[in-house]
Amino acid sequence: MKVLLIGSGGREHALAWKIAQSPLLDALYAAPGNPGIADHATLVALNVEDHAAVIAFAKEKAIDFVVIGPEAPLVAGLADDLRAAGIATFGPSKAAAQLEGSKGFTKDLCARYDIPTGAYQRFKTAEPARDYVRAQGAPIVIKADGLAAGKGVTVAMTEAEALAAIDECFDGAFGTAGAEVVVEAFLDGEEASFFCLSDGKTALALATAQDHKRVGDGDTGPNTGGMGAYSPAPVMTPAMVERTMKEIIEPTISGMAKDGNPFSGVFFAGLMITAKGPELIEYNVRFGDPECQVLMMRLKSDLLPILYATATGTLDKVQAEWRDDAALTVVLASKGYPGAYDKNTPIAHVPEASAEAKVFHAGTALKDGKLVATGGRVLNVTAFGKDVTEAQARAYALTDRVEWENGFCRRDIGWQAVAREKA
Ligand code: AMP
Ligand code: GLY
Repeated sequence: MKVLLIGSGGREHALAWKIAQSPLLDALYAAPGNPGIADHATLVALNVEDHAAVIAFAKEKAIDFVVIGPEAPLVAGLADDLRAAGIATFGPSKAAAQLEGSKGFTKDLCARYDIPTGAYQRFKTAEPARDYVRAQGAPIVIKADGLAAGKGVTVAMTEAEALAAIDECFDGAFGTAGAEVVVEAFLDGEEASFFCLSDGKTALALATAQDHKRVGDGDTGPNTGGMGAYSPAPVMTPAMVERTMKEIIEPTISGMAKDGNPFSGVFFAGLMITAKGPELIEYNVRFGDPECQVLMMRLKSDLLPILYATATGTLDKVQAEWRDDAALTVVLASKGYPGAYDKNTPIAHVPEASAEAKVFHAGTALKDGKLVATGGRVLNVTAFGKDVTEAQARAYALTDRVEWENGFCRRDIGWQAVAREKA
């Protein structure tokens, strides 16, 4: 099979690394890719916003299958255009990608199909939103409706904070993503991420993970795209997974199909495990970054036929096997992230992979033959262990061998699971 992978982050490096191990693979291309992905794929300098150019490339190289990593091309309808051109594609349609692209869309779906989630209201202007907040009181959650790179959510512990967040959205802090605002009840519990494939009819549960959204140790400071993750998430017991499938995933699949938007791709369900059970915080319609890195480390099965079955409606024919080991990834980011940071800072050394650890590239580039950091999140140091404690020790041992002056990381990734393992 000839495969084209779309994207350039750590998630796509992990996907490329895994797809490259498939005996079914004849050739792997990545657009635009990064220097880590280049170890496994031929990089192509395509503008992925130019769907016609992506299709023309796929035709020229006789690509059998396109795997779309990030959400932006999905929300822009790249999967629809590729499928219309007769090319099998992993990733939901533009209509189905609204599950991630519009928080209001997802909340309305939950309301229609009785999927557990926080009570909410949608607003197009500030005044009624402010009245609703005053009536509900704090804590309360304010969300820009559209894609805001993980920054459009304010968990307001006071009413004043909530009112300020509403003003910020309507004042254009998130551009058009904030033209509509969702105000949502605060859910109290432990968060977990759950990943599940669907071909529109069948669901295949993958695995669970826990992210670390705040930039600082002890979960302090502003939200980021994710500073590290581990899998599995201990709070997601088999019973909790079963309830999530029944109460959240299955009604979503049947509801989306009923509404004329059948979903094909990966559900990344952000869950809050409350006293009542699993409740949906949000859906993403692509693998998590950096959650994908730990998932790929733990997946024993060949990824390629599983993704292909998802795209071609044959998911009932495949299974996914997982290592019992835990995997943990530490994100190395540019100093200043998630605020402003210097670009093109030199990375002097990235240590080699071993049997139990690997560094995925997220925001790197080659400038005059030298490796430099170009993004906020730059490297993902990922390791296995018999438990999270061992995976954490291995990941930080390798992290300490990265030579990059402008980089920093959290030193406590996995702390919740490590505390549980010590108890
Ligand atoms: P989201 O972008 O929707 O994942 O939200 C970012 C983060 O805000 C989540 O990972 C949660 O930590 C938090 N959050 C979002 N919605 C809620 C909610 N209803 N209750 C409590 N925390 C929330
Ligand atoms: N790590 C969170 C995300 O990929 O959205």
